[in-house]
Amino acid sequence: MHPSADKPPACVILAAGQGTRMKSSLPKPLHRVCGRTMLDHVLGTVAQVGAELTVVVVGVGAEQLVAAIGDRASTCEQAEQLGTGHAVMCAGAALEDFSGDVLVTYADVPLVTAETLSRLLAHHREAGAAATVLTAIVDDPLRYGRIVRDASGRFLAIVEHNDATAEQRAICEINTGICVFEASALQDALARIGNDNAKGEYYLTDAFGVLVAGGRMVEAIAIGDPDEAMGVNTRVELAAAERIARDRVRERLMLEGVTLIDPPSTFIDADVSVGGDTVIGPGCQLLGQTTVGQGCEIRGYVVLRDAVVGDRVLLRDHTVVDTGTVGDETQLGPFALVRGGSVVERGCKLGSSAEINRTRLGEGTKMQHFSYLGDATVGRNCNIGAGVITCNYDGHDKHPTVLEDDVFVGSDSILIAPVTVGAGAFTAAGSVITHDVPAGALGVARAKQTDLEGWAVKRRKQWEGRDRR
Ligand code: UD1
Ligand code: CA
Repeated sequence: MHPSADKPPACVILAAGQGTRMKSSLPKPLHRVCGRTMLDHVLGTVAQVGAELTVVVVGVGAEQLVAAIGDRASTCEQAEQLGTGHAVMCAGAALEDFSGDVLVTYADVPLVTAETLSRLLAHHREAGAAATVLTAIVDDPLRYGRIVRDASGRFLAIVEHNDATAEQRAICEINTGICVFEASALQDALARIGNDNAKGEYYLTDAFGVLVAGGRMVEAIAIGDPDEAMGVNTRVELAAAERIARDRVRERLMLEGVTLIDPPSTFIDADVSVGGDTVIGPGCQLLGQTTVGQGCEIRGYVVLRDAVVGDRVLLRDHTVVDTGTVGDETQLGPFALVRGGSVVERGCKLGSSAEINRTRLGEGTKMQHFSYLGDATVGRNCNIGAGVITCNYDGHDKHPTVLEDDVFVGSDSILIAPVTVGAGAFTAAGSVITHDVPAGALGVARAKQTDLEGWAVKRRKQWEGRDRR
């Protein structure tokens, strides 16, 4: 048994590299897989393992990375990117007082699971190894580091692709980049690695060979599912990681009791939660921090971004909620748009092409067809007729509209904000409402109708015998 058997490890996440092959102005760790940055995937996984301290090594785009990390981990800077071994050396100061096991992961290996990290750690401790590296057996070793073993299968060294002989390049066991070291063995090995290689870098991977040469025990264990080992260096690999991660999310949700009618066309981000017995139709996207309750019916091509959806909600085809809250038993769409943090309370109905923006709809309110409410606060059981719009923006400022409980807004009413319609009041269809309507009143604001007797008959006579143009 290892002396530090029960002590939580320290974690070092390498995130300082240039990410040249991404061809991006965004630091590579901030590229997203399933809506979550690669760095957040790794931070989340490491947190599940329960580290005593976590240090992220930052360099290129350090300011952006430090801001994104917040207080979730400490950071140290690698001013010049001299290689993965050098990056771990830069974390040395942060690890100075730490004794125990140091888990090293790369910010560009986002799919590894907490179970795998725990298994790696457990193996390392049971073996009493100075270091243990996580490997993967793959069909195509691409440009990964190769694991070199002796005839009896004992680990000898890692050889980087660029430095490998043709014979070594044929090896299909690769380095995932994830490894664990006993702290003093790590310091010891790092002090002895050089940069005499194809890239002129200090490779972390050389630390293992150095330990073996010094007679220390190094273990190399293969990951169960090689998909977890995927390193993201190009946008092609980013898309491949995305596919794997999306499959995982879909599978998890289906096993939790969510029906996906057509899984491959359903895009669900990593942080989304969906309640049991919800049915999701083809082509839907559930993005960001969206949560959906139980027993909902989400038909085709619905987009939910940072949406909170209650229970037993019906979202008809092509509905979009882009930041907003939808209460239980509400029905939206087809083609409804809820945005700008709007809140739709329980039992409301929004129909085709109804749009609300920074608006609250009280319980049981209906807004069925072709209408727009912005900056509005609407009470309970109101009825918003077809074609109703708020004029909430005057070209410079935005103004509020208040519709108290039980208001009936006649079709094609135009509500010029700021304006209030009192409880139970009506507005007549086609009215331009420019000032407040008292509770219980009817606001009418339109020209009276006049009928010109016989006008149409006369007009038709004028047209007789002439071809239409
Ligand atoms: C690395 C490994 C390779 C392994 C592969 C797994 C080395 C030398 N090679 O290769 O054996 O198969 O990962 O995906 O370790 N980084 C720094 N500072 C640096 C250089 C890199 O922080 O100076 C960080 C990068 O931001 C990245 C990680 O280390 O997160 C890996 O660097 P990268 O250049 O992508 O290494 P690979 O060539 O993929
Ligand atoms: Ca890489």
